[in-house]
Amino acid sequence: MKVLVIGANGNTGFRVVQRLVDSSHDPVAMIRDASQRPRFDERGVPTVLGDLEYPIDHAVAGCDAVVFAAGSGGKTGKDKTVLIDHIGAIRSMVAASVAGAKRYVMLSSLNKDIRSDSKIRHYHRAKAHADAFLHTMHEVMPDHPALEWTIVCPGGLTDEPATGRVLAGGDHAQSGQTSRENLAAVLVACLDEPTTIGKDFVLLDGEVPISEALRSL
Ligand SMILES: NC(=O)c1ccc[n+]([C@@H]2O[C@H](COP(=O)([O-])OP(=O)(O)OC[C@H]3O[C@@H](n4cnc5c(N)ncnc54)[C@H](OP(=O)(O)O)[C@@H]3O)[C@@H](O)[C@H]2O)c1
Repeated sequence: MKVLVIGANGNTGFRVVQRLVDSSHDPVAMIRDASQRPRFDERGVPTVLGDLEYPIDHAVAGCDAVVFAAGSGGKTGKDKTVLIDHIGAIRSMVAASVAGAKRYVMLSSLNKDIRSDSKIRHYHRAKAHADAFLHTMHEVMPDHPALEWTIVCPGGLTDEPATGRVLAGGDHAQSGQTSRENLAAVLVACLDEPTTIGKDFVLLDGEVPISEALRSL
């Protein structure tokens, strides 16, 4: 599959791109700035410029799948959280469906909740609203192909090495850690594991091999 990675220049997104290069799929890296191109060029990965605050239909065109690994980050204003993590994410879902992309894998978050009262409620609410749209968008866009979606909700992200072993599933309201390497491996593995379609699950570092953990969801 031709897979658009949104947030490809990010700490997780770049790991996703690298894993896609080593897979049977063909990544396309969506980046915001042409100066980010060289490290993708070096790996033979095509890039497309796109910003979630604006239409990205040109970026999604011709892609079979989308992996959403973008986010406004903790250093921007809360307005950007709404514009990127909530509205921008929904923009990408609509663009994917309209373009005929079949598969959509969302990097979400533990503790997302549309009524969150957490210290980062702007973020937890934004992620919950975007994911809720993905769950039901086929009901409001019946004339467009329904996306085969998967939502992966990690805990606090770390730069620990890949263990290939995770805990998938369980309560969305909890704490825990997820290595970006394990997360990237799971985001890519979901593309090839039909059991993950229509699943919205927690992902923490754990003891179960990734393929087994995903099959048992
Ligand atoms: N940090 C955690 O502990 C944690 C826990 C649970 C879930 N998450 C989720 O995981 C995501 C990925 O984490 P990470 O550490 O890999 O994040 P990251 O390194 O900050 O990467 C985020 C990426 O999003 C891109 N981006 C930001 N605004 C954009 C826009 N308007 N249009 C297109 N792309 C845009 C950034 O582009 P540039 O490279 O151009 O800046 C960057 O490449 C987070 O955004 C968050 O939603 C994080």
